[in-house]
Amino acid sequence: MPPKPDRTRTQDAVKSDTEMSAGPSRRQLLSAGLATGVGVAAAGMAPKAVAATADPAITTIQDWNKYLGDGVDARPYGVPSPYEKEAVRRNVAWLTADPKSSVNFTPLHELDGIITPNGLCFERHHGGIAEYDPAEHRLMINGLVETPLVFTMEDIKRFPRENKVYFLECAANSGMEWRGAQLNGCQFTHGMVHCVMYTGVSLRRLLEEAGVRTNGKWVLAEGADASAMTRSIPLEKALDDCLVAYRMNGEALRPEQGYPLRLVVPGWEGNMWVKWLRRLEVGDQPWHQREETSKYTDLLENGKARRFTWVMDVKSVITSPSPQAPITHGRGPLVISGIAWSGNGTIKRVDVSVDGGKNWRTARIDGPSLPKALHRFYLDLDWDGSELLIQSRAIDERGFIQPTKDELRAARGENSIYHNNGIQTWYVKADGTVENVEVS
Ligand code: MTE
Ligand code: CO
Repeated sequence: MPPKPDRTRTQDAVKSDTEMSAGPSRRQLLSAGLATGVGVAAAGMAPKAVAATADPAITTIQDWNKYLGDGVDARPYGVPSPYEKEAVRRNVAWLTADPKSSVNFTPLHELDGIITPNGLCFERHHGGIAEYDPAEHRLMINGLVETPLVFTMEDIKRFPRENKVYFLECAANSGMEWRGAQLNGCQFTHGMVHCVMYTGVSLRRLLEEAGVRTNGKWVLAEGADASAMTRSIPLEKALDDCLVAYRMNGEALRPEQGYPLRLVVPGWEGNMWVKWLRRLEVGDQPWHQREETSKYTDLLENGKARRFTWVMDVKSVITSPSPQAPITHGRGPLVISGIAWSGNGTIKRVDVSVDGGKNWRTARIDGPSLPKALHRFYLDLDWDGSELLIQSRAIDERGFIQPTKDELRAARGENSIYHNNGIQTWYVKADGTVENVEVS
């Protein structure tokens, strides 16, 4: 179950805990009335270069030219340059009682393209990271099947393989922002998402092997970690595009991501992607109806709740500039960059506004456009140094348009934690620093 925000904490506490350097007015509602001193960059416009003769980085011999570096035996498994030490997962200590049942966040502001490096994929687990010897791992399929089966990892790797790129988003992503701007950085507001290429076998293929009986309607997926997390998935989805995956970005799953085996439920909320997958039981009803409470519901103002909201709605966020990635180079060419995704398929278009949603320009999507995967977008601007209210709005292949936060609250109220896909606003100040705000 995703973490619940602690509403008793003050904004200052948020600030100090996340060690962000924002101003005091994080919650302020800005009216979208800023001047828009920006033009779309002319094609081929390049940042100003310094004359080579004036730059000591060119005219003097640098340390790294004087000595031999490490040999090929020094780094059997490579790690990033020490200069990239800010590109790390971070957690928010006050969010949960214990880091063993908690979440950390993908540093979206440090990344580009659509693939999340394995070591930076956010982690969400309810009972800590289970460490597994793959030789001892088994996957059992039982319940309403003709032949109950138990697979070793070796068995699973002998089925035909598929490679698919998908985003995984926790249903609680942006959950702390339902009532107003709170956390100062896209890592914290949107970092419960990652996107990798999975290698595995289709769940349909494994279920066919066991033979689902005609009264089988649901699949219960069970994890082998200390929380033994279980989730029910409708058979229709299980037979559609789910994968039982053992590799991410080519290498074995990381322990944090469910090594040696996890369920991939494309486009659907992250809690269903059971890690350390050990059992699939076919049944005739969803297991969560047997539980006292159905945990993943969205409570509405009228006391009713939305249930079975599995699909992750169309969403986007600008990752740079953003509070953790301020503009440090001054006016002139500015690359606005961000990510967009939808559980319904591909992203058709992303619009970017620099005046708090009054005017919109179509951003450029660059890189692969794959269904249920992150998309990367850019808007290349000539920034004159004036204040901006930057926003992005994604539209998916089924025509769904990302709503404003006000539209979302009008429809769902403010009780919810899950499924906040509202438009994010970043306030870019003249000095290049950036703050999380909402516009009215
Ligand atoms: N599977 C098991 N076995 N145990 C867990 O605690 N957490 C779920 C899901 N699968 C969980 C699990 C939740 S709520 C999410 S959002 C995703 O895993 C997170 O996947 P990740 O850690 O790879 O980012
Ligand atoms: Co989750």
